[in-house]
Amino acid sequence: MAAGRALFSSQNGLAAVAPLSSIGYRARGLASSLPLLRRRCPSAFVSSSACCWSRPHSEGAGERVMKSEKEEAFVLTTPLYYVNAPPHMGSAYTTIAADAIARFQRLLGKRVVFITGTDEHGEKIAAAAEASGRNPREHCDTISQSYKILWRELHIAYDKFIRTTDSKHEAIVKEFYSRVLNNGDIYRADYEGLYCVNCEEYKDEKELLENNCCPMHLKPCVLRKEDNYFFALSKYQKTLEDYLTSNPDFVKPSFRLNEVQGWIKNGLRDFSISRSSVEWGIPVPNDDKQTIYVWFDALLGYVSALLEEGEQTNLEQAVCSGWPASLHLIGKDILRFHAVYWPAMLLSAGLSVPNMVFGHGFLTKDGMKMGKSLGNTLEPKDLVQRFGADAVRYFFLREVEFGNDGDYSEDRFINTVNAHLANTIGNLLNRTLGLLKKNCQSMLAFDSSIAAEGNLFKDSVDQLVEKAKYHYENLSLSSACESILDIANAGNLYMDERAPWSLFKQGGASSEMAAKDLVIILEIMRIIATALSPITPSLCSRIYSQLGFSKEQFEAVTWDDTKWGGLKAGQIMAEPKPVFARIENIKEVDVKNEVVRNKNKDKKKASRQQGLVEA
Ligand code: MSP
Repeated sequence: MAAGRALFSSQNGLAAVAPLSSIGYRARGLASSLPLLRRRCPSAFVSSSACCWSRPHSEGAGERVMKSEKEEAFVLTTPLYYVNAPPHMGSAYTTIAADAIARFQRLLGKRVVFITGTDEHGEKIAAAAEASGRNPREHCDTISQSYKILWRELHIAYDKFIRTTDSKHEAIVKEFYSRVLNNGDIYRADYEGLYCVNCEEYKDEKELLENNCCPMHLKPCVLRKEDNYFFALSKYQKTLEDYLTSNPDFVKPSFRLNEVQGWIKNGLRDFSISRSSVEWGIPVPNDDKQTIYVWFDALLGYVSALLEEGEQTNLEQAVCSGWPASLHLIGKDILRFHAVYWPAMLLSAGLSVPNMVFGHGFLTKDGMKMGKSLGNTLEPKDLVQRFGADAVRYFFLREVEFGNDGDYSEDRFINTVNAHLANTIGNLLNRTLGLLKKNCQSMLAFDSSIAAEGNLFKDSVDQLVEKAKYHYENLSLSSACESILDIANAGNLYMDERAPWSLFKQGGASSEMAAKDLVIILEIMRIIATALSPITPSLCSRIYSQLGFSKEQFEAVTWDDTKWGGLKAGQIMAEPKPVFARIENIKEVDVKNEVVRNKNKDKKKASRQQGLVEA
């Protein structure tokens, strides 16, 4: 935090809402003074701060407990998006990546809880509502809905959509606030500092540009002076430092860990967690003149989202339903909130910290972060309408290395998806099915395992599948796509080298070899469709259907289906149909037309000159 100065401080003396002794116990080790939530579920303690926080990096008993707990569910989250404006491609990017990771984990057989939602309180949202002429609630309803619509269009299969204006969320925030208060970590103080409304954050003067402009939003920060409640972040300095040292995987990619460690090393300062000037928010328990700071409120959406419909609305219940999260996926601009403030808040309230925070890069336009505040956004709706969800998902996951920034260009978009999805994958399938139809009446003559017996090609496919899995597990989504595409590249090469079309012409044993080759290629198409399904689910479903499988069969696939041997003799393929239509690059067409026009002009000119010569 924050440029400002806390002018005085005093204990606020608010009453506790729930006695800690009724739900907590005291931990040992680093967090010894912290109350911890305990699950009501038999024998299932929250992987508590005690075991999670102070566990040694090596495998110990505590570590084993943590693991068996984690195997219950893979809980991953996107940020909860501000509803100041409808989603743009930058916000869609995190959600597409999260969806791919969730789908991969489901393929592995994990129970996945994929959480997304909208962040609806605070000054920025109230101002956007006013500007749109709607009251805040109507405004939030409209914009929150536009996120849901886009997620449907992008084939995002989330499990939970939390809105921070949900009443269950409000109850969780208040309970959490009271736990932190009871732990002695909230006090009252005057505060003066420079505030960026777009970031919803007090800024340090050192980070600002000329005229106190926020480097992210290029707008001047405003001087604010308020009487607020503060969270005693500084108390957690040493604990956070030690935790990051012994759990370097908590922040990924690793270069972002260095950044977080740098912030902590520079000294953590307490931050204000209430606003006296903002009405649109959750009231501070026992002080309705203040509302809870939007970040303190929104981060808890990750916990409140876990509550099932009709369940008791309390922290214990929410924790029991899957906390701690396995993975928070976020953009790099909100890393400090997730990797510094959030763990300290959780620790203070006696909840476990999440397993990992992954901070990805920005989608940029002309090198600037694409964003609503700068107005340089790319419309995901338009992209989906023009090119389809698969193309959008594939391009951003394949072309932007997850963790780094990436620039969008329409030419690159069209060239990439045409080359990879239409040509390398789509054409290979289409021409193989064409040959099978012509020579084998669209029926497989061999089991794929028999067709590939003794064939080294199968081994190289197996290796690429393993590579793809490794990359998915490490959240290297671009490399996972690359390994899968390499299978298709190898398939194209195999097809060209073997030339089954001429083997069929030779008849006899050659014909049999050709029929085996087609089975081999179709088997790799099945493997590709399984492995790529987290990235391009609907394209992969079309591939499955071309291979003669039903929708239900596709929906039941698991990562085990990437093993060789799924296609059996007698399986009938569907009528060959392109699974991915090539996108016409209008600019390229214009250039081609121009070339043709120029050629014609040149011809006319030449014949005129010829005529002159002849005359
Ligand atoms: N409401 C907060 C998050 C609260 S989480 C408890 C917020 N919302 S946001 O709508 O402004 O941003 C949400 C996410 O979108 C952030 O992770 C941010 O990094 C991401 N992106 C916004 N613009 C982006 C790009 N141009 N590129 C990639 N991601 C970007 O912050």
